Amino acid sequence: MDMNILNKKEPLHEDLIPYLQNTSIGLCLKHPLVFNLFHTDQMNAFCNEQYKQKKETIKNYLKEKEFSSFIWLHERPFRMSKFLEISDLIKDQKQYWSLFSSIWIDCENIYQYKNLIKKIFKDKNIKLMMTKEDEKLYKDLPDEVKIFRGHQKYNKMGYSWSLSHFKAKWFSERFYTEELPIVTEGIVTEGIVTEGIINKKDILAVLKSRGEFEILCDPMKIKKERFKKAKRENWIQSIFEQARKEFALKEKSYHGIWHWEKVERNALEIANHTELCDHIVVQLFGILHDSKRKDENEDLNHGLRAANFAKSLYEEGKLLITKKQLQKLETACEFHEKGEISKDPTIGACWDADRLELTRVGITPNPKFFSTKAGLDLMWKV
Ligand SMILES: [Fe+2]
Ligand SMILES: [Fe+2]
Repeated sequence: MDMNILNKKEPLHEDLIPYLQNTSIGLCLKHPLVFNLFHTDQMNAFCNEQYKQKKETIKNYLKEKEFSSFIWLHERPFRMSKFLEISDLIKDQKQYWSLFSSIWIDCENIYQYKNLIKKIFKDKNIKLMMTKEDEKLYKDLPDEVKIFRGHQKYNKMGYSWSLSHFKAKWFSERFYTEELPIVTEGIVTEGIVTEGIINKKDILAVLKSRGEFEILCDPMKIKKERFKKAKRENWIQSIFEQARKEFALKEKSYHGIWHWEKVERNALEIANHTELCDHIVVQLFGILHDSKRKDENEDLNHGLRAANFAKSLYEEGKLLITKKQLQKLETACEFHEKGEISKDPTIGACWDADRLELTRVGITPNPKFFSTKAGLDLMWKV
């Protein structure tokens, strides 16, 4: 494009005029083919030229049946509607579903098309949305699967869920931060996580891309309940509060409070199914094991620092456990970062509980690295 065009003065193309919007940041052009924030008359010629070129290109793409290129040349908020417009032209089922899948994953305004999408989801070929890797994960799922959905006060129903509690929690709070909370009716709103159980046969598709471990399913087929944190005795709650206060990273970090709470809950569930497993030690592990992290990377020896923290709490008389229990807790904390397995049921339960949460960083837990049978059996069920 000739850059002198920026000096050219001309009126905006008549096709673009209806797409000019006054927004909180100023005048914006939001046409399906041309987006321009902070639009001024100075930009008219440039936008007109872009529009003319893109219009010509999409015409050719459609003629050549290059459907994917056709869609991606459109601006993001319009891609799903363009797909729905041309979907009857795509005869190859594999092409149809893989294109739909990539638009679905990229789309931020799905709710606008919910009725049309409901229809698409009834199609018997929907599993073609999955890649080979997605199919493998789907194959490995048990008959009943625990799934999570993050939302604000409303919007609890929907087709999009996740195998990862952390991802759902993140999704529920993505629009606000600790510095800028959302206040509803005078109360700071926490994002809500609804959890549910779905039969594997009712899962429409599993999408691992972007590390979201997304599960598509009809919300009417889910047994739902609100996410419940583990119950704590008062002294354990005080330990949690102290660890939280001293935590050096953000609460929402990958190793922050959401992670501790889920590891704690996993560990207690594993303990319920494991003989000779110490419930109090595994619960304290959930709360303490990552509490002395200094960064989100490897952070060598954060386990040892957690073990030392546990020891100091014990010496201050705050941990109501025996010396033997302390030793187990210290070992579990110190070595949890080393990627080992343990024959000890308590230490094994701790490490498995942590391992089950690898989905939050996009990793599918590897069955080879589980220490307890219950930990492995509970994969995708807690
Ligand atoms: Fe850790
Ligand atoms: Fe952890």
